[in-house]
Amino acid sequence: MSMLSVDRLRKEFGGVQAVVEVSFAIEAGRIHSIIGPNGAGKTTLFNLVNGLYAPSGGRVSFLGCDVTGLRPYELAARGMARTFQNLQVFFNMSALENVMVGCHLKSDTRLLPSMLGWPSIARGDRATRARAVELLHEVGLDAWVDADAAAMPYGALKRLEIARALAAEPKLLLLDEPAAGLNPTETREIDRLIQRVAAAGVTVLLVEHDMRLVMDVSDRIIVLNFGRKLAEGTAQEVRRNPEVIAAYLGTAAAQGAGSRHA
Ligand SMILES: Nc1ncnc2c1ncn2[C@@H]1O[C@H](COP(=O)(O)OP(=O)(O)O)[C@@H](O)[C@H]1O
Ligand SMILES: [Mg+2]
Repeated sequence: MSMLSVDRLRKEFGGVQAVVEVSFAIEAGRIHSIIGPNGAGKTTLFNLVNGLYAPSGGRVSFLGCDVTGLRPYELAARGMARTFQNLQVFFNMSALENVMVGCHLKSDTRLLPSMLGWPSIARGDRATRARAVELLHEVGLDAWVDADAAAMPYGALKRLEIARALAAEPKLLLLDEPAAGLNPTETREIDRLIQRVAAAGVTVLLVEHDMRLVMDVSDRIIVLNFGRKLAEGTAQEVRRNPEVIAAYLGTAAAQGAGSRHA
């Protein structure tokens, strides 16, 4: 059984066909990536998978159940967490509190709006706080536990979002461009973090623009172009696919797609 499968998924915005009849399946325990040029429909596909958008057509199955049309909090409760291309951090909270919110998402996300106003979330119970500290450690943010999110640098915020998503103890983690805007050193850290997360048993679906990151970490790659699935395969297969090279990789990216560790 696939962990996630999408079947002929479609999304139109007015006249724009953002996602066109896309089908694929994600196996548990792997790192899958979705790549494609800007505007290819990657984020829209994520928004369809995690229930932020209702599809214009097609179906989504998660852990053997048809989840088409379910809301993000319902999918979170079933074990699907995500991060956003544009940071969705609570800037009026500390790093620790941001992750503690994620811990509470696991129990009942419908409570989230009211919880945000509760003084108890700032104090938190001891177990939740300890778990949040542990997650901040896992993403390399020990130094920022009590920092105001508003005071944290961009690279740290990207990792904070991953920690918050992990706090919900997902079975499937969707990461939308986790390395966007990061320098090469920070990108390598994200690369290692993704591999650690996967090694810990969380299935990862990554949307990424950074070819080197994708080629490094992905077991399987899905290529989108103009909303359609252009190709799917291992990094090697995708890299050699003439259509992919023509549509997306180009010469510069194809060089980078070799290996940055070479
Ligand atoms: N909420 C929206 N309303 C209208 N058009 C959208 C919306 N979201 C995405 N699009 C359009 O859908 C296409 C795919 O966008 P997107 O999924 O963000 O691509 P990617 O993440 O691959 O860069 C683009 O043409 C974009 O302008
Ligand atoms: Mg996007």
